[in-house]
Amino acid sequence: MEFNKFRIRTYEGRYDRAQVEYLERICEVGPSESAFLFTDTMGDPICRIRNSPMYMMLVAELKNELVGVIQGSIKVVTVHGHPPKGLAKVGYVLGLRVSPHHRRKGIGSSLVRRLEEWFSSKDVDYAYMATEKENRASVSLFMDKFGYSKFRTQAILVNPVNHHCFQVSSNIEIARLKVDQAEYLYRRFMGSMDFFPNDIGNILRNKLCLGTWVAYFKGDIAWEDFRSDGQVPNSWAMLSVWNSGEIFKLRLGKAPLSCLLCTKSWWLIDKIFPCLKFPTIPDFFDPFGFYFMYGMHHEGPFSGRLVRALCQFVHNMAAETKDDNCKIIVTDVGEKDELNHHIPHWKLLSCPADLWCIKSLKSDGTNKFHELTKTSPTRPLFVDPREV
Ligand SMILES: CC(C)(COP(=O)(O)OP(=O)(O)OC[C@H]1O[C@@H](n2cnc3c(N)ncnc32)[C@H](O)[C@@H]1OP(=O)(O)O)[C@@H](O)C(=O)NCCC(=O)NCCS
Repeated sequence: MEFNKFRIRTYEGRYDRAQVEYLERICEVGPSESAFLFTDTMGDPICRIRNSPMYMMLVAELKNELVGVIQGSIKVVTVHGHPPKGLAKVGYVLGLRVSPHHRRKGIGSSLVRRLEEWFSSKDVDYAYMATEKENRASVSLFMDKFGYSKFRTQAILVNPVNHHCFQVSSNIEIARLKVDQAEYLYRRFMGSMDFFPNDIGNILRNKLCLGTWVAYFKGDIAWEDFRSDGQVPNSWAMLSVWNSGEIFKLRLGKAPLSCLLCTKSWWLIDKIFPCLKFPTIPDFFDPFGFYFMYGMHHEGPFSGRLVRALCQFVHNMAAETKDDNCKIIVTDVGEKDELNHHIPHWKLLSCPADLWCIKSLKSDGTNKFHELTKTSPTRPLFVDPREV
């Protein structure tokens, strides 16, 4: 289809790969004064959506030059009260990039419009996207021009992996779950959470999923005693880990002076006083991998400590892995979620306000859509590791 002089078409790996990677390299995401990360897809620009049940990548072409790109994925998730069974088809919009030389010509809008058309052709109920609150162009495009509404504000918490391992408290037991056990627990305890993926089993069985672990206090019900209809310990916590670095790497494109100074001084302190066991900030200017912690759930009066222990356990796992390229641990939680206090992270590296926006693609979905956007932002959301 022609829009002025540019053409929107589906991505063809054989011809478009290099140009799409080039576009990714020249596009800064977010405000120019803050630090930003490049994504290195290691020769497979479609890697970020490949693990979703359905996906699509579109490009905008102008005289044989690729000037824009967008990706989308579709899955079925829990949406509270959505008829008939609280399940809805949702389309995730991601990776929108327009060449800096061709902006404000309607290319971004055309890409979004075409992706929404694809969603509608697949009977999608809601389209949604996430963007940094400070990304004015993106917020304005989706909210003002396309009518998306603010849905949640999430915090992306980042913790650097350093060579000093944490000592996990000796009265805490950490056990790895079999996939079936993990799926059972997720469906039982998180299944009614908004955006819980109906194909959670596929996520847990994916080779990028490194496993699911539970933590509980020694002397409480031992993990083997957890039964499908049985009790759970008084306090317990669980999480899963996704090896995002296996499919793409990150690299710091640019950092504000304050960030650089802090990094440098931290390196210096650790070099002079290694005995202090100061956490080190890795070198983020070379491409690096990361682990994503997802499906975090905790219950009981002391479960905060268990969440912290699990995070420390994951940190140690990353520090000890043979692939020493895993330099950060990332997680995505509600801005006001009390979990934030228990998850070790560095404010300097984290993004406190990632805006999630949503739009109903069907007129009969308006009521539930209204509920979705008006619910308390403290109600947690399941963040799918395939969409990181
Ligand atoms: C966001 C981006 C894709 C917009 O692409 P684009 O082709 O320039 O967008 P359009 O020309 O279709 O603009 C559509 C609307 O977006 C908004 N918009 C776009 N750029 C804007 C800017 N710099 N400031 C404020 N609003 C902006 C406007 O509402 C605009 O409508 P208008 O031109 O009628 O005022 C582009 O700026 C980009 O690639 N940015 C870097 C990557 C990024 O941040 N992607 C979004 C991640 S979610």
